[in-house]
Amino acid sequence: MKLFGQGRAALADDPATAERLEWGARRRSRGDPDIILEPRSGDPRREPWIAPPWFDPARGLDALRRRSGRRARWSYLPTAPGVVRYLDRLAAPRQQTGWCVGIAGLGRVGGVAATALAAVPTGRSGIRELLVHDADAANQERWVLELGSIAQWRGRDMLPVVRPATTGQLFERCDAFLFAATDSVPPLGSRGDVRMVQFEPNRSILRGFLADARAADYTGLFLVVSDPIEWLAQAAFRDSNSDRAGRFTGHGIAPERVAGLGLGVMWGRALAAARQEGLKEVVARRGAAYGPHSTDVLAFDDLENPDFPLSRRLTRSARECNFKVRDLGHVPYVGPGLSSVGLMLPPLLAGREVLASVLVGGIYFGAPARMAWGVHPTPHRVSGEIWAAISSLHESLQSQARSLGLEWPAL
Ligand SMILES: NC(=O)c1ccc[n+]([C@@H]2O[C@H](COP(=O)([O-])OP(=O)(O)OC[C@H]3O[C@@H](n4cnc5c(N)ncnc54)[C@H](O)[C@@H]3O)[C@@H](O)[C@H]2O)c1
Repeated sequence: MKLFGQGRAALADDPATAERLEWGARRRSRGDPDIILEPRSGDPRREPWIAPPWFDPARGLDALRRRSGRRARWSYLPTAPGVVRYLDRLAAPRQQTGWCVGIAGLGRVGGVAATALAAVPTGRSGIRELLVHDADAANQERWVLELGSIAQWRGRDMLPVVRPATTGQLFERCDAFLFAATDSVPPLGSRGDVRMVQFEPNRSILRGFLADARAADYTGLFLVVSDPIEWLAQAAFRDSNSDRAGRFTGHGIAPERVAGLGLGVMWGRALAAARQEGLKEVVARRGAAYGPHSTDVLAFDDLENPDFPLSRRLTRSARECNFKVRDLGHVPYVGPGLSSVGLMLPPLLAGREVLASVLVGGIYFGAPARMAWGVHPTPHRVSGEIWAAISSLHESLQSQARSLGLEWPAL
């Protein structure tokens, strides 16, 4: 095996990509790399450009229930034009000083999420710096003052440093970017779907951020918090990788570096129903939620031996709690800000399993997932009936993605 590259990661037996990267043959004095990558064939419009050994994109949705087991090494798609920027970043020395997280959109959800992240010591969250941005300058200043006033009496723990940032600064400096901005959330009393109506206005805000990310050659994580989460995640990948005619360019954000954060609150709402029945501990250990941050979400009490009437009650709670809060005269944002983001981001950054919407089978789909460079679904044993429900939901979302013009057709 011939290795190329002197950094933390090296390519195996691919002189052509090594030449694009200007990576020479690995010198003996460099020792073994942490990561050895081998080229893989696949469709860069529908699968991760770089994948860890435990994730095999060719399995499609099956990756949710079976371990890869085939590969000993990391893999990448040499046919993705933009993959070289990411390989370069992957090979760079690991930063030891903690994460810089950027958050755009300091409204109800973004504000609560930023509060949670700013209140947890760096030693626990891994976050050393929080860059905050809002289109409303006074609101941004207000949050810099508020978050900057979080302190512990004589506490020795270091809290993240909070700084204001322009969009350009966000993408030049941060390792993980949270998109929590919205044009407008439908007001109380709105009937019907409160998420999908935000798609076009929020996609247009998102486009501005994608352009800034591209201009800064951003290779960090791009995490979508705003609604409709899965479709905006899909749009982030699609819009940053399309030319004006909608053709794939592959120079934008790698799909595995995009993820949606919205399934956490759905699971929190399901667990609230389990708690009422005195079953929270066991459900928290054995159950999970799958699918989108919408009324299509599915929650299960036990992935291997489900009690379907109970799972249905959990699913109903996940789907309806949002409307119950609205009926009481308030837009929900505390559960979302904390369960989807504030309590989810630190374990995600630490490489532990979380709930996130990740690219699987060509679309972004909520599932247990883990970050290993990109964010990928983690496999779980699931009963046959649960598998049937997850597959049918995935299929219906795929056809929705097609009708929204968001999915590139299979080659
Ligand atoms: N992920 C979840 O779990 C979850 C749960 C509930 C709601 N949401 C969604 O989160 C989003 C935010 O909701 P909210 O209640 O905080 O909204 P909000 O209206 O309270 O706040 C939106 C913020 O975005 C800012 N903004 C608007 N355009 C901007 C731009 N171009 N650049 C920077 N900032 C901009 C506004 O100034 C405002 O501060 C919505 O899409 C909502 O549906 C997500």
